[in-house]
Amino acid sequence: MKPVVKISNLKKKFRNKEILNDVNLMIYESQSLAIIGESGSGKSVLTKCISGLLDFDFGNIRYKDIYSLKNSNEKVKNQHISKFGILFQNAALFDSMNIYQNITFGNKKANILKILDAVGLNKDCLDTYPANISAGMQKRVGLARAIVTDPEILILDEPTTGLDPIMSIQINKLLKKLVAKQKLTTITITHDMSSVYEYADKVAFICDGNINWYGDIQDLKKTTNIKLKNFINGKIED
Ligand SMILES: Nc1ncnc2c1ncn2[C@@H]1O[C@H](COP(=O)(O)OP(=O)(O)OP(=O)(O)O)[C@@H](O)[C@H]1O
Ligand SMILES: [Mg+2]
Repeated sequence: MKPVVKISNLKKKFRNKEILNDVNLMIYESQSLAIIGESGSGKSVLTKCISGLLDFDFGNIRYKDIYSLKNSNEKVKNQHISKFGILFQNAALFDSMNIYQNITFGNKKANILKILDAVGLNKDCLDTYPANISAGMQKRVGLARAIVTDPEILILDEPTTGLDPIMSIQINKLLKKLVAKQKLTTITITHDMSSVYEYADKVAFICDGNINWYGDIQDLKKTTNIKLKNFINGKIED
């Protein structure tokens, strides 16, 4: 497995609140990594740092052996950001743009029909607006926008949160197909353990600002790590 992104000793704080205090993590080519952890543990912040959308305070993020983000100029940073396709936590669609505009975003080369097909949307929705479609469809549109640039790395921030169970299953199946077919390098943040079991190869559990556990999906259920066990079983620590 070839490493694509290497995160070392990453620290990030907001004002005086430390969110990430020493994150070390590798993202490997064609692998599907799930990042799990409690609400507020820093999952979204971490992936925003990884994709270059958010600056970090300490440590480094390396892309292959080609460059690192620390002290990099704007050009490198923008190049880095463009390697990622991101489905944001709340889909983050533009209300004033129709679905077509939301997906293509001025990307003239986009093969819109192929993209719609990949995410299970019908072309009839293209001239409607985000407010007029369901949450499940909004996620699909967000996903379509994330893959339209043919990204090297796909980040999915809570792809099934807020969806009903049936829609969640559909989205998980869709993602599984997408990840398997295109051999995409994927980072999925989720609360939903069924998504993790559905298509993750590796799992990283973030807790107290660190990666508290990292391993193969097969080893997740066998873990003796109490914090992780409690998290996956939905227990609250005493
Ligand atoms: N731009 C910001 N300014 C200040 N604080 C922030 C900012 N972004 C995130 N935070 C804080 O950082 C912490 C981690 O946030 P983050 O969104 O990464 O959590 P999360 O693990 O993704 O949670 P959830 O599962 O609820 O999405 C939270 O306490 C949040 O309030
Ligand atoms: Mg989040």
